[in-house]
Amino acid sequence: MNNIIDSLNWRYATKKFDETKIISGDHLETIKEALRLTPSSFGLQPWKFVILKNKEIQKSLVEHSWHQNQVAEASHVIVLCRKNTLDETFVQEYINDYAQTMWAPVEALDGYKDMMNWFLSKLDDEAKATWANKQIYIALWSIMTVVAEMWIDACPMEWFSAPEYDRILNLQSEDLSSVVVLPIGYRAEDDEQLKRPKVRFEQKDVIIDM
Ligand SMILES: Cc1cc2nc3c(=O)[nH]c(=O)nc-3n(C[C@H](O)[C@H](O)[C@H](O)COP(=O)(O)O)c2cc1C
Repeated sequence: MNNIIDSLNWRYATKKFDETKIISGDHLETIKEALRLTPSSFGLQPWKFVILKNKEIQKSLVEHSWHQNQVAEASHVIVLCRKNTLDETFVQEYINDYAQTMWAPVEALDGYKDMMNWFLSKLDDEAKATWANKQIYIALWSIMTVVAEMWIDACPMEWFSAPEYDRILNLQSEDLSSVVVLPIGYRAEDDEQLKRPKVRFEQKDVIIDM
């Protein structure tokens, strides 16, 4: 394991990837498992993660990403998506999985199920999307940290057209909406961004010790 602070200083939002360098199968398995292990509120996991490795599709996404070439150059592009339908069926699927994992009767989880259904019933569709998006940003930073530990570069991206991504990747058919995008791969040594120092406020400006 690297020193975590070294990894966090090493990583940066990569603007230019080396197209010739591809992430290995072993590393991809680690990335998939790390995504799966992301925690979420109630443990509900209102997401799916599309891992794109198709140069033609990647190139077609550039014009819908404010012409940011990272999506074409990167080895892979993770599109972090939320589930659109967050209803009682969705909660029941989780409860069934929970009961199976715990070797518990499904009815033993009725209280937990009722609480989650009550919580979701208080939210309209927009509030549900906002709640799911928050969970997905946990996955975003978590996986950014994991890949940095493996000396894999990444660029978190909000500057893209979600409706166009949804259309091109046919996400509606999976009841998904794209939320945030993470091209991953290896930095190009001539990335201009590498010359820039990390800009952060000082600890005294952001940490309050009480
Ligand atoms: C949620 C989020 C969205 C971002 N969107 C973009 C983007 O669309 N394009 C881009 O080049 N950088 C994007 N960034 C990168 C930030 O500008 C960058 O993380 C920040 O300036 C700090 O720099 P560092 O990550 O290199 O340390 C985004 C970062 C975050 C966390």
